[in-house]
Amino acid sequence: MQTSHRQRRQRLLEHLGHAVAILPTAPECIRNADCHFPFRADSYFLYLTGFDEPEAVLVLDGRRGKSLLFCREKHLEREIWDGFRQGPEGAVANFGFDEAWPIAELAQRMPDLLAGVEELHWPVGKDSGFDAQVGNWLEVLRGRERQGISAPLRYVNLLDCLDEMRLIKDADEIGLLRTAGRISAEAHIAAMRATRPGMAEYQVEAELLAHFVRNGARHPAYECIVAGGANACTLHYVSNRGVLRDGDLLLIDAGCEYDGYAGDITRTFPVNGRFSGPQRDVYEVVLAAEIAAIEAVGPGVPLAKPGDVALRILAQGMIDLGLLSGSLDGVLESGAWRQFYMHGIGHMIGLDVHDVGRRHVDGQLRTYQPGMCTTIEPGLYIRPAANVPEAFHAIGIRIEDNVLVTGQGREVYTSAVPKQIDDIEALMQQG
Ligand code: GLY
Ligand code: MN
Ligand code: MN
Repeated sequence: MQTSHRQRRQRLLEHLGHAVAILPTAPECIRNADCHFPFRADSYFLYLTGFDEPEAVLVLDGRRGKSLLFCREKHLEREIWDGFRQGPEGAVANFGFDEAWPIAELAQRMPDLLAGVEELHWPVGKDSGFDAQVGNWLEVLRGRERQGISAPLRYVNLLDCLDEMRLIKDADEIGLLRTAGRISAEAHIAAMRATRPGMAEYQVEAELLAHFVRNGARHPAYECIVAGGANACTLHYVSNRGVLRDGDLLLIDAGCEYDGYAGDITRTFPVNGRFSGPQRDVYEVVLAAEIAAIEAVGPGVPLAKPGDVALRILAQGMIDLGLLSGSLDGVLESGAWRQFYMHGIGHMIGLDVHDVGRRHVDGQLRTYQPGMCTTIEPGLYIRPAANVPEAFHAIGIRIEDNVLVTGQGREVYTSAVPKQIDDIEALMQQG
């Protein structure tokens, strides 16, 4: 992987010209008392370095064409307690940095590294603490102006350029996304097989997490949503403490993070293995919308197309099911459909589950390009209080896959989890 990280740094250096870029990793966060949340490197930092120790700052020096890392020093006692550290020597030898320095020397060295630089790039405004650190280095340099040393004149948000790079996945990233998708898909299959009436939602969650961890994906990409019955109508339901009832549906939205890359799959299926009539009717609408939206993804297609395609099918379905009355155009125009479908069709996926990438460029909606990776995830959510036939109450259905845009069309690399009704019922029969 270091080769692709080096190549990404090289591309950024070319973009920088004679400018300098500074990029810190994420801070460590206390969970309670002296326990930390699991450390997760900043996604931009991970993209350029593959380095996942805390307390690290990357500097790309466009004048010298070099990449430098500040990181924790080797420390015998700390390594006995907390584990291995690369140290600056390891960072150079194993991660391909041109130079590396102890993080403790950051404040002392940065003003010298920035002296005479005209343009400085960093994630401006992302972390006020880091903005203040940069401000301090600039202050030091301004204090040296009478010695003929000048501070940078122009400040640029580094993340704009990185967002554009991250939007189009390279071959290594595509490989990791496929792996995250495969492990996530297998976990959904295991969860479907394990589900029985009377289980707690968290017991199904355990199946998902166990499969992730067993396959080297130590963390979910986001909190698992395991939502039985009406809980599925809470879009980001994560309490997962309910008991699964015979006759209810179960919505699972879960994906692992593998080597930094996210999977994000949703399936909805009956707790007892058989769809009821009303459940089947609503499900078929969502499935038709999902399949049509996926087929609409392709190179050169405006980003809004899959959402438009799905919405027409969902809105027509709402009319056909008797959830709404009126004509399709009338329902689309009034926005009445929002009662039952209140989120977008999907999002880019990559190092972040809701990944980076501007939807508009120069005021124009952009088009899908090969290497982009998106989710497609239509849904219908009928809350128990909804003013519709009771047979539809507490039915919440979402179906979500991950789609890579290719030169010819698309690759749905999470399709191993069944989503056709017959296939789901057959899998659950096998148990
Ligand atoms: N799992 C969050 C989402 O589907 O966007
Ligand atoms: Mn999801
Ligand atoms: Mn999603």
